[in-house]
Amino acid sequence: MKGIILAGGAGSRLYPLTLVASKQLQPVYDKPMVYYPLTTLIEGGIRELCLISTPHDLPRFKQLLGDGSRFGVTIDYREQEKPAGIAQAFLIAESFIGKDSVTLILGDNIFYGGDTFQKAFADFKSGATIFGYHVNDPERYGVVEFDATGKAVSIEEKPKAPKSNYAVPGLYIYDNEVVAITKNLKPSARGELEITAVNVEYLRRGTLRVQRLNRGFAWLDAGTSSSLHEASAYVQTIEKRAGIKIGCPEEAAFRSGLATLAQLEQIVTAMPNCEYREYLAKEVVAEAKRLTK
Ligand code: TTP
Repeated sequence: MKGIILAGGAGSRLYPLTLVASKQLQPVYDKPMVYYPLTTLIEGGIRELCLISTPHDLPRFKQLLGDGSRFGVTIDYREQEKPAGIAQAFLIAESFIGKDSVTLILGDNIFYGGDTFQKAFADFKSGATIFGYHVNDPERYGVVEFDATGKAVSIEEKPKAPKSNYAVPGLYIYDNEVVAITKNLKPSARGELEITAVNVEYLRRGTLRVQRLNRGFAWLDAGTSSSLHEASAYVQTIEKRAGIKIGCPEEAAFRSGLATLAQLEQIVTAMPNCEYREYLAKEVVAEAKRLTK
């Protein structure tokens, strides 16, 4: 399974924050936003990643994440000239995807809680797997309607009259057909290759699986000033209460077996003195050593 992080877009709703740095580089409490989706993929054991962003912002992402070796993964970088739709990612990354299946995650989506995605990656065989999450403002998203047996029967992009409260979050798993499907898409009225159109095609073929995320699961998107602030507050609350970090890719690499304890220790030693380093040194490295004694 390959992994794509889509981190382009205009970020116009965050203006003027996004005049200089893109949305996905903004801080969500104590780390850059893109660390959260990166961590989600690493927790799922995905080792080969591709990050797509604008020609303007791509150098900053390279500076931040490098070749991925710090996190036990490889990261390829590709440009999206213009924000021509989420599904365009599959065309931009076609040579990266090769013959594999692929997970696409949006760079401004933050997920927390449980191992639903890890299981979904491990169980995935063919077709498409997407998710449904109960929200109070479904009209902002792709909305999925279920029948009485829990089967998805329709998906609509930003409907004026949503048929359910289930929005489709920004993590999608596809087999290799996704490239051919995207090539056949026509741009929508707003001029974009729509991810919802990809999902509708899988639904039409009878190979779409929509898994409902349970209530204990948190899905935050940080696209507006309020939601960015709320996401920061949420992360701070959980981190303070539990003494853990959310969205820590170095820790995720170690825990999912992509990096050894020795590698993690070396990376931590090279970090400047800061709370992030202290956390990794005390709560991850020292704790792992104590447990293996
Ligand atoms: P949006 O939040 O819908 O769009 P945006 O980031 O351009 O923000 P705004 O509406 O404020 O101008 O995009 C969702 C995510 O997908 C976000 O992480 C950006 C990314 N994206 C791309 O990288 N390329 C695209 O062509 C589109 C449409 C989105």
